[in-house]
Amino acid sequence: MGSISRRRVLSLGAALGLASAAAAPEAWAWSSAGSLAGADEVTDPFQVWGPEPDAVAARLLADGAIPAVNEAWRRWVDNADPLPSGMPGYLTSYLQKVNRLPSWADAGKLAASERYYKRLASYLFVSQSIGSGIMSTVIPREARAVYWSAGGANMKDRAAKTFTFGYDLNSATAWQPTGHFVVTANKTRLVHSVVRNLLPQSAGFMESADQPKPISNGDILRTFHSVATYTHSNLLKWGIRLSAAEKEADLHAWQVALHLLGVQRQFIPATWADALAQAEHMLWPDLAPTREGNSLAETLLGYVSQPTLGLATGFVNEFVRFLLGDEVGDWLNLRRDWAHAALIRIEWPLYVAFREGTSGVLPGSGYLFDQALRGIAMLYLNNGTSPTQTPITLPAANRPG
Ligand code: HEM
Repeated sequence: MGSISRRRVLSLGAALGLASAAAAPEAWAWSSAGSLAGADEVTDPFQVWGPEPDAVAARLLADGAIPAVNEAWRRWVDNADPLPSGMPGYLTSYLQKVNRLPSWADAGKLAASERYYKRLASYLFVSQSIGSGIMSTVIPREARAVYWSAGGANMKDRAAKTFTFGYDLNSATAWQPTGHFVVTANKTRLVHSVVRNLLPQSAGFMESADQPKPISNGDILRTFHSVATYTHSNLLKWGIRLSAAEKEADLHAWQVALHLLGVQRQFIPATWADALAQAEHMLWPDLAPTREGNSLAETLLGYVSQPTLGLATGFVNEFVRFLLGDEVGDWLNLRRDWAHAALIRIEWPLYVAFREGTSGVLPGSGYLFDQALRGIAMLYLNNGTSPTQTPITLPAANRPG
C-alpha cells in the first residue's frame, strides 16, 4: 500500500470533501492526545488485536461448539435479554464481563443519538450503503478478509448481516432494553475473533496477507472512518443542518460502539476534528483496488440496482462515482452513464435542499431520488434484527475453495 501516490491521495481527499489530504506517512504517528484516553503517546493500533475474545473463539472452534452457540444466540437479541443457556461456560463468563456499557458511556448522549439517527435515517442509509458499503471493497485488507471468509461466498446474506449492525445502531431504540445494539456489537466482536482464528488457515487469504492476523484495532478504526466519519462529512457537504449536540451524540454512539468492538480508548477519537485527522492518516491513503474487492463490488452493486430496487444500473454506478469519486469508480470499472452523472451532480443537492426546507423547488428527478431512498431503506428494514431474519452468526470455516 506504500505505493499510493500523493496525487491519488489528494484527488480522493478532494472527492470526499476533505480540506487537505496529506500523503500517508511511513509509520503510525497519530498521538493519543486526540483520543478518549487523552495521554500524549503514539501506539500503533495495527499491532493490537483482542487476546481475550480471540482465545475464547479459538476454544469454540477447537470444541466444535460454533453450531450450538449460534443456536443459543437466536434467543439473545434484546439488550435486556439474559445471556442464553446452551453456551460453553467460558463463553458465558467472557460475555458477562463485556456485555455492558463502559463506565464513561453517557446515557443522555446515547438517547440523543437515537433521535438524531431517526431524523436523518434516509441520508445515513444512502451514505452507508452506496457510499461506505462500496468503499469497503476498496479497503484492501477488509475486501480480502471478507472475500476469503465464509460470508464472501454468499454476499447477499453477508451484506444483510452487516446491515443489521447499522440498522441496530441507527435504530430509535438502539440503546434501550428493547433495542439490540449492545448484543449485536458483542456478537460482531466475537465474529471478528473467530475470523482472526480462521483466516490465517486460508491459503487464498494468506497469499496476499500483510499482517499475522486480520482485524486489528487499526483496521476496525479504518472501517469506522469509512462509515461514520465519511457519513458525518457527507451530511455536512450536503448542507444538512446539524446541531452541536447532534454531532456530539453521533460521535459518542460510535465511541461506545468502538469500545464494544474491542478498540482501546487510546485509539478512539475524542472529537470529530480528531476523527477527521485520524481518517486522513489511516483511511484515504490506503484505498486501492484488489481482485477480491472488485468481485465483491460487482456482487453488491447487483443488489442495489435492477431488479432488486428497480434502479437503473447507470444511475447506481453514477451515484457511486458521485459519492466516492471517479478514481474509485474507475478502479471498480463502473460503466459511465453521462446523463445520470449530470443529473445526480446537479439535482441531488437541490433534492436535499428541498427535503431540508432550504429550497422550495423539487427538482425534476425528485421521484428518482425518492425511489432510491425508499429502496435503500427497504434493504435495511427488511434486514432489521429479529430472531428470524438474517441473525449474526459465528462462521465455522473459511470460504470454501
Ligand atoms: C463480520 C461489522 C470491521 C472483516 C462482521 C459482522 C458485522 C461486522 C456486523 C457480522 C456479520 C457477518 O458475518 O457478515 C463490522 C464493523 C466494523 C468491522 C461495524 C468496524 C467498525 C471489520 C474489518 C474487517 C472485517 C476492519 C477486516 C479487515 C469481517 C469479516 C467478517 C465480519 C471477514 C465475517 C464474515 C463471515 O461471516 O464470513 N463485521 N466489521 N470487519 N467482518 Fe466486520
